Amino acid sequence: MSVTVVLGAQWGDEGKGKLVDILSADFDICARCAGGNNAGHTIVVPMGPEKIEKTFAFHLLPSGLVNPTCTGIIGSGVVVHVPSFFAELDALQEQGLDCTGRLFISDRTHLVFDFHQIVDGLKEVELGGSSIGTTKKGIGPAYSSKASRSGLRVHHLFDHDTFAQKFRKLVENRFKRYGYFEYDTEGEIVRYQKLADRLKPYVIDSVVYIHKALSEGKKVLVEGANALMLDIDFGTYPFVTSSSTTIGGVCTGLGIPPKKIGTTIGVIKAYTTRVGGGPFPTEQLNDIGTHFQEVGHEYGTTTGRRRRCGWLDLVVMKHSCLINGYDTLNLTKLDILDDLDEIKVAVKYLIDGKEISGFPADLEELAKVEVVYVTLPGWKKSIAKARTIEELPENCQKYIGFIEEFLGVRIEWIGVGPGRESMVKKQGKAVE
Ligand code: GDP
Ligand code: IMO
Ligand code: MG
Repeated sequence: MSVTVVLGAQWGDEGKGKLVDILSADFDICARCAGGNNAGHTIVVPMGPEKIEKTFAFHLLPSGLVNPTCTGIIGSGVVVHVPSFFAELDALQEQGLDCTGRLFISDRTHLVFDFHQIVDGLKEVELGGSSIGTTKKGIGPAYSSKASRSGLRVHHLFDHDTFAQKFRKLVENRFKRYGYFEYDTEGEIVRYQKLADRLKPYVIDSVVYIHKALSEGKKVLVEGANALMLDIDFGTYPFVTSSSTTIGGVCTGLGIPPKKIGTTIGVIKAYTTRVGGGPFPTEQLNDIGTHFQEVGHEYGTTTGRRRRCGWLDLVVMKHSCLINGYDTLNLTKLDILDDLDEIKVAVKYLIDGKEISGFPADLEELAKVEVVYVTLPGWKKSIAKARTIEELPENCQKYIGFIEEFLGVRIEWIGVGPGRESMVKKQGKAVE
């Protein structure tokens, strides 16, 4: 099988970018299938002959681009703010990463405009105390335009008159809904004519491109963005993003059938974090939470917001495993637990003393759950230099074993630091 998928298993920021960077060395194509520049994937890479570590932050572009032989594709299920696309590309070029001729975007990809971003902010204000805490990148409003069949796609950019006409209508409708806000509609139309010329060489029919590559035996790596608990259907709705962040979104976002998918890898942080509003049953508003924030540098890559932190939640992970069917897992940031005397792991939720099956859909029900934890001993030792399972302390191996046994899924990679080299890889089956 030539398609491998990397997906976030919790509420995002699990460390997907780092695994994608490591794997992309063996792949011809790295594709994004959903989301937009709400994502923030940080990778730390040794560059040049002196192997000086450089940090890259990817938002809209696939992280696999950091590998010079990998081609990046932005699939049809993504929403793209074209000025941000170029800003990110220019920043990469400036950092010495030449992407010429190896970055493409689907002609079916929907466009995010500045007015979508303005509306994102207005919607949040309207929600007041129950705001989602979005990234304000216009993601929700752009997917709304798409779902209401009034959105503009990349191919529309190349028929200027139709583009202008549809664009005016779209903005007008927003004014009707939100009242007039400052926005230079005609100026934008002119700006997008220029952006269209610049974007043209990047635009492809991604269905034809990907299927041709697959038929030639090329290997495709799909980089998930956001994560399972932020999925529009299976996350903590409405405190979610507006796309399908699951394995289903890989098929719909890239136009590939499930049969083509070989390995699905779930990325799971050794504790839990989430950015923005919404329920978080294992959140720790205490010294433990502060420990994760400070030691784990838990600040958003996209918005700089402090991430909320808590213990690992295996009820969430069971839900995640059922939906995405991970073949294997990458446990990340295990090094952040090094100094703890004891480590707690949530294993069930009770309501009125009774265990509930699954993760509740109703947030009011979720608010009532009592979380049951298992406490495991810490290892009180740095694992930063470990590169094999045997080099990890016994209690650390036990923590990994506990998660594997509970979920019934093998943990194949273990992150012990932010750098590319800081990964323990279990011996055994490689990615197919
Ligand atoms: P993503 O959105 O899933 O790609 O994750 P982010 O990049 O938003 O957040 C993960 C952060 O943790 C980044 O700053 C990574 O460099 C860092 N990171 C990833 N894996 C590890 C790890 O195993 N240990 C440590 N200490 N940091 C890691
Ligand atoms: P990566 O790919 C963490 C969260 C936002 C907000 C909610 C909706 O880096 O893991 P949106 O702007 O998408 O409408 O915001 O979703 N969110 C993320 N949180 N990591 C992400 O991406 C996220 N993408 C969206 O914080 O709560
Ligand atoms: Mg992130």
